[in-house]
Amino acid sequence: MSAASDQFRTRRKFLKMLCTSPLIAGSSILAGGLADLLCAEPLEEKHFLGWLDNLQQQSDSIISSPDQALDVMDFEPAARKAIPPAHWGYLATGVDDDATVRANRDGYSHVQIRARRLVDVTSIDTSRTIFGTQWDTPIVLSPVGSQKAFHPDGELGVARAARTKGHLMMLSTVTTASIEDVIAARGGPVWQQLYPTNAWEVGRAIVKRAESAGAPAIVLTVDLLEGSNRETLFRAQRVDTRQCSTCHKSGYTGFARGRSGAAATSAASSGVAQYLSRKPMFDGLDVSKVTNLLASNLNWDFVKRLRDTVRVKLLIKGIVTREDAQLAVENGVDGLIVSNHGGRAEETLRPTIESLPEVLEGVAGKVPVIVDGGVRRGTDIFKALALGATAVGFGRPHSWGLGAFGQAGVEAVLEIYRRELRTIMRQAGTTSVDKITHDCVIRRLR
Ligand SMILES: Cc1cc2nc3c(=O)[nH]c(=O)nc-3n(C[C@H](O)[C@H](O)[C@H](O)COP(=O)(O)O)c2cc1C
Repeated sequence: MSAASDQFRTRRKFLKMLCTSPLIAGSSILAGGLADLLCAEPLEEKHFLGWLDNLQQQSDSIISSPDQALDVMDFEPAARKAIPPAHWGYLATGVDDDATVRANRDGYSHVQIRARRLVDVTSIDTSRTIFGTQWDTPIVLSPVGSQKAFHPDGELGVARAARTKGHLMMLSTVTTASIEDVIAARGGPVWQQLYPTNAWEVGRAIVKRAESAGAPAIVLTVDLLEGSNRETLFRAQRVDTRQCSTCHKSGYTGFARGRSGAAATSAASSGVAQYLSRKPMFDGLDVSKVTNLLASNLNWDFVKRLRDTVRVKLLIKGIVTREDAQLAVENGVDGLIVSNHGGRAEETLRPTIESLPEVLEGVAGKVPVIVDGGVRRGTDIFKALALGATAVGFGRPHSWGLGAFGQAGVEAVLEIYRRELRTIMRQAGTTSVDKITHDCVIRRLR
C-alpha cells in the first residue's frame, strides 16, 4: 500500500466517523452519494483505494506531450527518458556531490512571500525593460552549450520558442548552431555568451562576429575553470555504450571520463582543436593557439582589455560576491549575472539567491543584475525580483523541454513560468513587476 493510500485510508476513517456521528448525521454537508460512499463496506473501500493507487501511478508517470505538464519539473523525467545517458549526464551534472545544484533550489525555500490583499489585480503587467528594450517578462533563457545533444532542434528550437513567447535568449559560445542562424530563428537579436579561450585573438573574433550579427550584448562567463569535478557526468558516460560518432569524434575529452590533473589537461589540449572544429562560433578561426576553452588566465586586466574591445553592452556572468561586483562596475561592465553555473563549477553550497543581495550592494544600483540557478517556479522568479534582480534566468528547464519535445517543449516551459509568475503577482497584490519590491518578501531563519 502506498503512503498516499495510507494517508487516504486514515482520512477516510475520520470522515466515516464523522458520517456516523449524531452531530453530523442528517446534515446536508454529507448528504447523498458522498455519505453513502464514505459509509460503504470494505469491499467498496478497496475499490476506491484501488482507484486512488491507480491515480497515483498515473500522476507518477512520465508526460508524453508538453500540454500534460503541470510544472516545469515534469519535463525532467521526460527529458531523461528521451536523451542518451551521457548527454543526460552532461545536462544534469553538478560537481562533487551535486550539493550546490540542490542548494540553488533549496535557497528559494528560505524566502517567504508577504501577500497583500484588497488590491485590484484585474490587470497584471509583467513587462520589464533591460538596456532600453522592453520584454514581455523578466524571464530570460540562460546560455546552455551543445543543445543538439538534447534534441535535433537544438538552439534553433530554443530560439524559435523564444520568438513565439517573446523572451531574451543568451547563446552559448559552444552552441551547436551559428549566431547568424539563431538570430534568424529568433527573428531578433540574442546576447552572445563568451568563453574567450586562452587565445586573445580567438575570443576577440567571436565578439566581433557576434556584434556584426547584431548581438546587443556580450556576456563574459568567468565562473568555470578547467577541471571541474563533474562526477554525475562521468558516471553517466560509463553506462553509455553507444558509438556516438556523429557528436563525439575521437579526440577532445573536455570534462570527460573522470580524468583529473595532468592527464585531463593534456588529453583536453590535444583534442581541443578538434572539439572546437564542431562548434560553429569557431568556424574559420585559427585555433592553433587554443589549449583551453575555459581559460585560467582571466583577470581584471583582461576585463579592461575586453571592455575596450566590446562595442555593445558587456556583462559578466558568474559573479557571486560584493567585492567582485564592485570591481566589475569600476571596470566599466554594464551588467552582471549572479550565477554559479547551475552548481556545475565548484561545490560552494551557496545558493545564488543568497549571493544576490551582496552583489546588489556591490553594484549600488549602477547596473542591472540578473540571477540564475535553481529557478523552477514563478514564485522563485517573484522572490528574485523582490530581492532586487532585474531579470531571472534558467538553464536546465528549457533544456528539459527541448530534450523531451523539441521547440514545443521549450515553449511549454516558458508558458508555465509565465503563468506561475502572473499567478503569484495576482495573489501577492503586485500589478506590475516594478511593484515587486523588498516589502514583498521576508527571509526565513534556518
Ligand atoms: C548543460 C548546461 C550547459 C551550460 N552551458 C553553459 C555555457 O555554455 N555558458 C554559460 O555561461 N553557462 C552555461 N551553463 C550554465 C547556465 O547558463 C546557467 O547558469 C545555469 O544552468 C542555471 O542553473 P539552472 O540550470 O539550475 O537553471 C550551462 C548549464 C547547463 C545545465
